[in-house]
Amino acid sequence: MRGSDEAYCLGIESTADDFSVGIVTFNGKILANASSNYVPEEGGIHPREAARHHAEVADAVLQEALVKAAIKPYELTLIAFSQGPGLGPCLRTGATVARALAAYLNRPLVGVNHSIAHIEIGKLTTGAMDPVTLYVSGGNTIVSAFDSGRYRIFGETLDIALGNCLDVFAREAGVKHKPGMPLGAALEELAANGEKLISLPYVVKGMDLSLSGLLTAAITMLRKGKCRLEDLCYSLQEHAFSMVTEVTERALAHTEKTEVLLTGGVAANKRLQSMLRGIAEEHGASFHVVPRQFATDNGAMIAWTGVLSYTHGIVTPLAESFVKLRWRIDKVDIPWVE
Ligand code: ATP
Ligand code: FE2
Repeated sequence: MRGSDEAYCLGIESTADDFSVGIVTFNGKILANASSNYVPEEGGIHPREAARHHAEVADAVLQEALVKAAIKPYELTLIAFSQGPGLGPCLRTGATVARALAAYLNRPLVGVNHSIAHIEIGKLTTGAMDPVTLYVSGGNTIVSAFDSGRYRIFGETLDIALGNCLDVFAREAGVKHKPGMPLGAALEELAANGEKLISLPYVVKGMDLSLSGLLTAAITMLRKGKCRLEDLCYSLQEHAFSMVTEVTERALAHTEKTEVLLTGGVAANKRLQSMLRGIAEEHGASFHVVPRQFATDNGAMIAWTGVLSYTHGIVTPLAESFVKLRWRIDKVDIPWVE
């Protein structure tokens, strides 16, 4: 099996609002990462509209990635795609492109778990080897660590995801954001000017947490119109981030790992980074955060996880390449971690 810089994997990401194509070498060099983001006219993501966007841009994004990487399609060794979890129509669009490419080029296909890809790109880009990972995005809030062949889930949200909580609040508050700027980032800017901590629900149950009560309470406060928006954004962040930090700290104490990794779209948040850095330091662990361009959904993370899978004997026959809308990370064997 080829394992050098001359072997390339193309990865397709399409779980939600991004259609992205990454190309990496089998040695983990990222050669290209091209993306197109679907922006809804109003409100949250509409799965079928997002899928239509993905189908429309697929060709251009593929071309852009190939040009950036300066390789020809026939030089690709492997095709990887996000098989789940995610939105059905979006996932199916990416899977269709991947299947067509693999069949046309006569190359192996690998279906990748999107959440595991967020962890693996974090490890690749930061050098973390065996971390406790906090993975926080629009659809997921998971504290995990490797144990006995799999990424085990130590704690997770019982209802909505952290990014979704921030986005829904920001939309409700009419927070303005420039094109391309995530709502969570716009909320972060407002929160930086918050001065007063407003008491809101804080719900950690065992190792899991709940964010929907916090969101409802924050929206209720907002509608009453008695608090400064900056203070509410600040308070929402402080409460939500403290919850995920508490669960991560407990997983760190329990597993006695020596690294903490922050990954997923919300990892870009400076306040969350500083809270996690704090608990890592208290436990004598090193702190790692995925670089911003690989925090949000990207094809490179799918390509890299495809390489890890394929070089450890995993391929996905076409007949088994159906998408998995709710594919939990603890259902996936991870033969590449010792
Ligand atoms: P997944 O399928 O993994 O759940 P996703 O489709 O939600 O992924 P990501 O790109 O991983 O996509 O994460 C997007 C989320 O990250 C959004 O909720 C966005 O508001 C949030 N986000 C981005 N930047 C920041 C920031 N600086 N502060 C807080 N949240 C942020
Ligand atoms: Fe994601």
